Amino acid sequence: MQEISQKKKVLYSAVQPSGDLTIGNYLGAIKNWVALQEEYECFYAMADMHSITVRQNPATLRQKTLELAALYIACGVNPEKCTLYVQSTVPCHAELTWVLNTFTYVGEMERMTQFKDKSSKHADNINMGLMDYPVLMAADILLYQADVVPVGVDQKQHLEITRDIANRFNNIYSPTFKVPEPIIMKVGAKINSLQEPEKKMSKSDTNVNASVFLSDDRDAVMRKFKRAVTDSQTSVRFDPTQKPGVSNLLTIYSVFSGKTIEEAERDFEGKGYGDFKLAVGEVVADALAPIQAEQKRLLADKGYLNEVLTAGASQAYRAARKTLAKVYRKVGFYQLDK
Ligand code: TYM
Repeated sequence: MQEISQKKKVLYSAVQPSGDLTIGNYLGAIKNWVALQEEYECFYAMADMHSITVRQNPATLRQKTLELAALYIACGVNPEKCTLYVQSTVPCHAELTWVLNTFTYVGEMERMTQFKDKSSKHADNINMGLMDYPVLMAADILLYQADVVPVGVDQKQHLEITRDIANRFNNIYSPTFKVPEPIIMKVGAKINSLQEPEKKMSKSDTNVNASVFLSDDRDAVMRKFKRAVTDSQTSVRFDPTQKPGVSNLLTIYSVFSGKTIEEAERDFEGKGYGDFKLAVGEVVADALAPIQAEQKRLLADKGYLNEVLTAGASQAYRAARKTLAKVYRKVGFYQLDK
């Protein structure tokens, strides 16, 4: 369990345990968490309360939540240094969401890009939770007084509304919430589909060749990269406007290999797309293999995972309830005599 220090700045981030995670989730979020865990006091959640805004199979959601916990650790998130917990095990998230709802306008939520996207994808289930999702996310972040929130580009708008809600509350009452800053990496914060390279790679894409999942075996990884859409030219050059497919592959290669985009371009000077795709597939498959093996090993030790999540829940609760108590006092909720 991490020692809560007064000096370190606080970092908060989370991933939804619904669906299979893609290399986009890894490069846009989890990989950076590992690098940041030394510098910050980190809270990493499995956002299962977010997941139920879209219908889930209960047994699958429970299993995926555990798999996600194992994945965080397998990717290098150290439970001795960070607080790892399941969102629904800390009741403060739902409680703060209710209060923050009264500081959020319906029009703001209707304008959220992800709400509009998800509403069109799930037209039969445009529930209040789907619309309220950014407020729950704001509650997640604000409960822990987070200074920074590492996310991919697609979550930027939710971070902006979090800042707006925090400022609004702070201005009406007095400074209560830290106003968080997003951390969005220059390279890797938007990994695109291998089939439609102008679109984000997504867990829920119906085209199986569009996304590389963290659970894909070497054959699947190689096959998907081999089929990746490029262009009719021949040069491996980074140019997202003219060459979105090649640029996306260069980005993936660069982040997985630890090389800069320029170094990556140099690696493929004079080489054809066939060799290039093969090399990208290899660097990804090589990186995923040890993560998959470690995740499998961890999942065989449910007792250990449960210990981590139990400790994480109480550590997270201790931090969250302080903020919640402050908020309840400020809005005028009755305080019982102790
Ligand atoms: P989620 O589960 O959709 O995605 C988790 C993280 O992965 C990033 N990401 C990507 N990055 C690069 N390229 C991609 N193609 C790509 N796809 C996804 C996302 O930006 C995100 O960082 N609402 C959040 C989870 C959440 C959260 C929070 C995040 C709940 N509470 C508080 C930060 C702070 C979500 O659905 O992410």
